[in-house]
Amino acid sequence: MITTRLKNDNWALHQIAERQPTPGSLIKGTMPKADYLLVLAQQLLVNTALDAALQTHASNDLISPLFDQHQLLTPYIREDLAFFEVDTDSITPNPGTRRYIDHIAAHKDQPLHLLGLHYVRLGACNGNTFVARIVRKAFNLADNQGTRYLDPFGKAQRKQWVAFKSGIDALTLDQAQQDELFAGTRAAYVLSINLDLADYKNADALLAEHGKTLDKSAFDEHHSVHVTKEMQQELTSNDQ
Ligand code: HEM
Repeated sequence: MITTRLKNDNWALHQIAERQPTPGSLIKGTMPKADYLLVLAQQLLVNTALDAALQTHASNDLISPLFDQHQLLTPYIREDLAFFEVDTDSITPNPGTRRYIDHIAAHKDQPLHLLGLHYVRLGACNGNTFVARIVRKAFNLADNQGTRYLDPFGKAQRKQWVAFKSGIDALTLDQAQQDELFAGTRAAYVLSINLDLADYKNADALLAEHGKTLDKSAFDEHHSVHVTKEMQQELTSNDQ
C-alpha cells in the first residue's frame, strides 16, 4: 500500500521533525505564548498558499475522491489568530516560510505532489492532538480555544485520517505517480524541519547530521519519541 511507504520510508524525517525547536518546545510546554502566536502567523502564510494550490485541483480525478473543504487548514488558523487578536494583515514570511511558499508555487501544476504536502499537514494533526493538550494547559485555554489549527477535527481526527489514507490507497497510481506523491511527502517533512533553520538543509544533509542518533525502535513501537505506547493506543483506539 502506498500509505505504508509514505509512513515507513519517512520515519527518520518524522523523528528529525519532532526534534526541532518548534515542535519540541510545543510538546514540552516550554514555548512562550508570544512565540506560539508567531508560529500560527507563519503557518497562516504556508497554509493559505497550500489551500489555494489544492483548490485549483479540487475536481481532479485523483484528488476529488479524498479531498474535502473541511481539510483546508487556513480557516482554523484564522480562528486561532482572531481569538488571540493578532492582526493578520501585517504578517511577513520568515525565510523558512518563504521557502515553503516558493516550493508550493513551483509544484502548483503537480496535483500528486501537492497531495503529498497535504498528507503531511493532515498527518501531523495526529501528533498535534497531544501538542494541543499541552498548549491549552500552558496558556490556560478552555476547550479548543486558540488550538483549532493543532487539533481541527477533535474526536473525529482518527476516523477522518483513516478515511483519508484509505482514499489514497484506493487510487490507481502507476509507479511515477506514486513517486510524485512520495516526493511531496518528503518535501513537506524537509520544508517543515527547515522552518526552524536559517540556512536550508536538504534531506541528505539532515539524515547525515541526525542519522546515527535516531531511534527506529521508538518509531516502530509508538511512532513518536514524545508519545508513550499508551498514548498512541489511546489515539488509534478511535480508528474505527
Ligand atoms: C512533537 C511533535 C510530534 C509528535 C508528538 C508527533 C506524534 C505523532 C503520532 C503519535 C502520530 C500517529 C502515529 C499513528 O498513526 O500511529 C503521528 C503521525 C504523523 N505525524 Fe507526527 N508528531 C509530531 C510532529 C510532527 C511533525 C512536525 C510533522 C510534519 C512535519 C509530523 C507529521 C506526521 C505525519 C505525516 C503523520 C502520519 C504518518 C503516517 O501515517 O504516514 N509530525 N505523529
